[in-house]
Formats: sequence, C-alpha cells, structure tokens
Amino acid sequence: MVADNRIVFGAEGNNFPRLKRFLSEVKQGVVPTTIWKHKDVGSTQKSTRELKEIFDGKKVFDYPKPVDLLRRIITIGSGDNDIVLDFFAGSGSTAHAVWEQNIDDGHHRRFILIQLPEPLDPKNEEQKNAIEFCGEELLSAITKERLRRAAKKIEDENPVFSGDTGFKVFKLDSSNIKAWDPMTKDLEGTIDEFAEYIKEDRSETDILHELLLKLGLDLSIKIQEKTIANKKVYNLGHGVLLVCLNRNISDNEIETLALDMIEWIKEDNPQTETTIVFRDSAFVDNVAKTNITEIFKQYGYNNIRSL
Ligand SMILES: C[S@@+](CC[C@H](N)C(=O)[O-])C[C@H]1O[C@@H](n2cnc3c(N)ncnc32)[C@H](O)[C@@H]1O
Repeated sequence: MVADNRIVFGAEGNNFPRLKRFLSEVKQGVVPTTIWKHKDVGSTQKSTRELKEIFDGKKVFDYPKPVDLLRRIITIGSGDNDIVLDFFAGSGSTAHAVWEQNIDDGHHRRFILIQLPEPLDPKNEEQKNAIEFCGEELLSAITKERLRRAAKKIEDENPVFSGDTGFKVFKLDSSNIKAWDPMTKDLEGTIDEFAEYIKEDRSETDILHELLLKLGLDLSIKIQEKTIANKKVYNLGHGVLLVCLNRNISDNEIETLALDMIEWIKEDNPQTETTIVFRDSAFVDNVAKTNITEIFKQYGYNNIRSL
C-alpha cells in the first residue's frame, strides 16, 4: 500500500499511518466486490429450478437469470421510486427481482420490461410446455404468466406486504387516430369518412392510453370510471384528466354532465390543471360544444379538448 501511495502519515509525516481512501470509494457506501458467489447471487441451475417451481415443475424457459443476481444489480444501480428498464424481458426475472428487492428494503422501484414478438415453437419440448401453460404462441406470454404467478407467490409468502405487485401490458401499435389519407378522386367521400377519425376497431382503453402518452402522463396512473348523465366518464390520475368518449351528448344533457364532472374533479382536488376531453363528433353542433366549454370555464377549467 505504501508503494501504491495508499498510506498517509499526516501533514508533518509523523502521525499514526492511515489508509488513504478515494472519494469514489466512500461515496454512497462501499464499492461492490468484483467476485459474486453462487451462494449470494444464485446460479443458472438454481434459477432454472426456481422457475420450474413457479410453473408447477415444468420447464418453460432456457437459462433464466437468477432473481438474486438481478437483485444485487438492482440494489447497486437504483433506489427508491426509480424505474428499472430491461430490454430483454425473457421470462421476466427482472420484474420479479424488483418486487422481491422492494419487499426487502421498502423501496418503491418500478420496472419497464420490453419483449420482441418472438414466436414459441410447438415442436420444442420446453416451448410446447410454455404454450400449454399460457395458451399463446409468443414468448411474452411466458413473461406475463411468470409475473402473475410470482406476484401471487410473493403475496402468499408476505401477508403483511402492502407494496404493489401489479403490472400493465402494452403492445406496440399504430395511433388510434386515422392518418389523413385523401382519396384524390373522391375528396368529399374522404372528408365524410374522416368525420369519425378514431379507428373503429379501437377500444376506449386504447384511446385513454394514447391520451396519457400524448399528455406526457404516467401510464400507470389510476383510472376510475363513473356513469354521469348516462355517459361513461373516466377520471385518470385523481382529477388530472377527465375523459368522456360517448358518441352522442345531447343539448339537454350538457349541463348535468359538466356540473357532475366538475364535482368529481373537486372531490379529488388535483394539484395540477385538469384536462377534460370529449369526442369531437359527440356534440350535435358547435353551439353545444361551446356551451359545455363555457360551463367548465365558469368554474375555472379552461383546458377542454376534443378528440
Ligand atoms: C436470454 S433471454 C433474457 C433472459 C431474462 N434475463 C430472464 O431471466 O428470463 C434474451 C431475450 O432477449 C430478447 N432479444 C433477443 N435479441 C433481441 C434484440 N435484438 N432486441 C431486443 N430483444 C432481443 C429475446 O427475445 C429474449 O427474450
């Protein structure tokens, strides 16, 4: 250590010798050791066994990573409220490890796992097992099923754990809104066709999530629904976003609808400005649309949009 210049003898050179530590070594605790032993971070044999246990003794995936290994990496690289991202989801070990580690240190880490639409091969013995378990011929079916089973196991084993073991699954798709694509020979026809410009095969949940993305809101915020004036109304993120996607809002329903929506926002008392969204084609005419906007404005809600 003397040869390494790692020992200091004080300013005068005659003090009790002390070990010199560099800032990089002392900040945020200790530097991780370089050698990680099986007994601490598991092995492929152990993780294969663990995954088999989750899938009732059947092997469904080759070489899953050990949960303990991922937990070690997660502890080094993340803290409370962080998001752990894994582009190679596979059997979902990373999410499982995030949950387990959260139980251990009480943090609220979240995760994003990505999986290519990789097909499963029914001729391969393990993949055949996976297809039987999941009823889908895509690798992502294993990811989802493993997480459902792992969440249940975690809840059974930790009855007092109040953390979150939920997750949402999204599939990459085109926008729910039709892209403007005029038929030059029939412009009038195109305009009629685009009067309703949300794609017919999309659900209200699809549209809500596109709104969240476009408004830059968290995809995991709470979504509540209520029937107001016989219309389904969604409240996202406790009053941050209110959405009514009903196709027909008649003039005499406007006032009740608006006032009850305002009441609901007030109950939640959001800290940011509320955005309110309707389907453009829901109103009989522009007067009806202006009327509802004016009611909201009277109560201080100026951010009304139509879709
Ligand atoms: C070895 S597995 C990951 C195993 C995972 N850590 C576990 O414990 O289950 C690798 C994964 O990466 C995906 N993958 C392979 N090539 C990829 C690429 N170029 N881009 C994104 N994902 C890819 C595969 O579909 C597979 O799910």
